[in-house]
Amino acid sequence: MEKKTIVLGVTGGIAAYKIADLASRLTKEGFDVHVIMTKNATEFITPLTFETLTGNKCILDTFARDFEWGVKHISLAKRADVFLIAPATANFLGKMAHGIADDMLTTTVMAATCPIIISPSMNTAMYENPVTQKNMAFLKSLGHTVIDPEEGVLACRDIGKGRLPETEVLHSFLMEKLCSKKDYAGKKVLITAGPTQESIDPVRFVTNHSSGKMGYELAKAAFYRGAEVTLVTGQVALKPLVGVNTVPVVTAEEMFREVSKRAEDADVVIKAAAVADFTPKETASEKIKKGSEEEMAVSFQRTKDILAYLGEHKKPGQKLCGFSMETEHLLENSRKKLEKKHADLIVANHLKQEGAGFAGDTNVVTLITKDDTRPLPLMSKAEVADAVLDALSEL
Ligand SMILES: Cc1cc2nc3c(=O)[nH]c(=O)nc-3n(C[C@H](O)[C@H](O)[C@H](O)COP(=O)(O)O)c2cc1C
Repeated sequence: MEKKTIVLGVTGGIAAYKIADLASRLTKEGFDVHVIMTKNATEFITPLTFETLTGNKCILDTFARDFEWGVKHISLAKRADVFLIAPATANFLGKMAHGIADDMLTTTVMAATCPIIISPSMNTAMYENPVTQKNMAFLKSLGHTVIDPEEGVLACRDIGKGRLPETEVLHSFLMEKLCSKKDYAGKKVLITAGPTQESIDPVRFVTNHSSGKMGYELAKAAFYRGAEVTLVTGQVALKPLVGVNTVPVVTAEEMFREVSKRAEDADVVIKAAAVADFTPKETASEKIKKGSEEEMAVSFQRTKDILAYLGEHKKPGQKLCGFSMETEHLLENSRKKLEKKHADLIVANHLKQEGAGFAGDTNVVTLITKDDTRPLPLMSKAEVADAVLDALSEL
């Protein structure tokens, strides 16, 4: 994404400190980040923190005589590509909903024409107060995005709704708004990710090294590009995704069941999961029950070939993409896979190459279609995800 301007509005809620993490991450990612604080927010975190993290002056005073950009609230409002107010206090929601512009933040937000995201955070009783609910409903009706606060133990020790979502969630909302390429709008994309687990007995299981990162990046990118995304995922250590309908599964059989029943409805299906080829015929404990203690070796049977099934049941116009993990003759075998499984795109993973593979954040792949073999350089998995979506929409 080219360097875009993000304005963060921070109000006087206890969660204000959490925005330091977001401001730091966005700045590191290359965005031009400006923070506007309310006077009360400075009771919770200092402007100096944000200035140090963003490299930009933190703005508080509507009447500061700083001529760098002319009238500051107007120039920042014009420059902003997206505006996030987090945490948004009950007080701020009330002001914004009623057109009150009595400080730098409320004045700038009123002048902003870019997408506005509001992340309310407060004590549960304040959140559930009909006045707060009415203000939020009104702000939503104006087309602003209001993020639902999370439930949990709040700073006031109450348990309930009102907690600011994690940085990752706020980040995803921002990225979705900043992504101007909406070529997947109106499309249903079904993605599988992660490994499957096949139990040998109640304690042990067979699995593989898939981290799920590639599939998750694909789901994120498709969501940012406007798709309605369903992600069928094996057990992974990744944070749940915003805006993505996530279906958790454990075994290859479950993955097959969940994918096959949803595939009919999808415009694009991407199988990025590393599904175990084999599953135990019977578990070791079943063998013990049968009294065959001496014969403990577990025998395996083949799991269903999900990609082959998807290829055989492809509906007209549907695009199918699979991943290929060959350790030998990668391109040759990947092309064979494309033909045999009736896929439209195979993403061949150069597992043995530096920077490629399961666990890391980068990958080295070659995109294989009927008419093309396109090697890509070392890229982040997020970039590979975009390249895969580009290739699928070009088909
Ligand atoms: C310790 C403390 C924590 C607070 N946390 C919140 C909060 O999380 N959410 C909220 O809406 N108000 C909270 N308040 C109340 C606001 O600070 C108060 O309503 C203030 O007027 C908000 O000003 P602002 O919206 O201009 O920043 C808190 C107050 C105190 C003293």
